[in-house]
Formats: sequence, C-alpha cells, structure tokens
Amino acid sequence: MHSKLKSAILGFLALALSFAASAQDPAKAKAGERIYRNYCATCHGDDMVNTSTSTFDLRRLRADERPRFENSVTNGKNQMPPWKGVISPDDMDLIWNYLRTNANDK
Ligand code: HEC
Repeated sequence: MHSKLKSAILGFLALALSFAASAQDPAKAKAGERIYRNYCATCHGDDMVNTSTSTFDLRRLRADERPRFENSVTNGKNQMPPWKGVISPDDMDLIWNYLRTNANDK
C-alpha cells in the first residue's frame, strides 16, 4: 500500500479508537443520574457537589479508577454502606457513565 495513504488510515483509526474510549453514552448517563439521585445524592450531594467534607467528592475519580469505584460501591468504605445486592452491575455501569459527565478530568 502507498505509505502516505497507510499512515493516514492508521492516524484515522487511532483517532476513532481514542474517541470511542473517551466518549460517554448520553442515554446511559441520564439513566445513571436517576439512580444516583435515588441512592447516592443524600450523601454525595446534588450533581455530585458534596454537602459535607467527610464524603468523598465523586468528581475526583479519574477515568482509570473504575475498578476502585466498583470495589468501593460494592463493598462499602468506612461510613459508606456496601451496595452489593442493591445496585446491580448494570446500574453501576450507568452510574459510572453519569459520574464521568461531571468528572474533574473529563
Ligand atoms: C450514607 C451516605 C452515603 C451514601 C448514601 C453513598 N455514599 Fe459513597 N461515600 C460515603 C462516604 C462517607 C464516603 C467516604 C468514605 C471514606 O473514604 O471514608 C464515600 C465514598 C465513596 C466513594 C469513594 C471510595 C473510595 O474509593 O475512596 C465512591 C466511589 C462512592 N462513595 C460512591 C457512591 C455511590 C455510587 C453511591 C450510590 C449508590 C454512594 N456512594 C452512596 C457516603 C455515602
């Protein structure tokens, strides 16, 4: 293949992949927001703005901290109760999509 064309194609693929990795699904984020309001907002605040300093600011979670998010939500942490059996893995995915819309590093 012509090398200029080849590098143009590779460049396009890299761009498309990075977009796919960072893009959040707006429908998922919307559904996640509803779950967040029901279960999380009492402590983590409306729109993730904390009402108290002892509660973790969810906007601080970075894009690569999804495993930490899932672990803390599933098993709880200190004053936060575990959500296992309450929040399903699908719902956790929706909440994560919502969190990413408001993240400090988005
Ligand atoms: C009863 C109050 C309360 C509710 C409700 C609550 N949290 Fe928390 N959450 C906390 C507190 C307090 C912390 C800080 C824990 C600590 O580090 O001591 C925390 C921390 C976290 C953390 C960060 C833990 C870490 O890894 O440092 C995540 C993620 C989190 N909450 C997600 C959620 C989600 C998602 C929901 C809704 C399903 C939720 N929380 C509901 C009180 C709450």
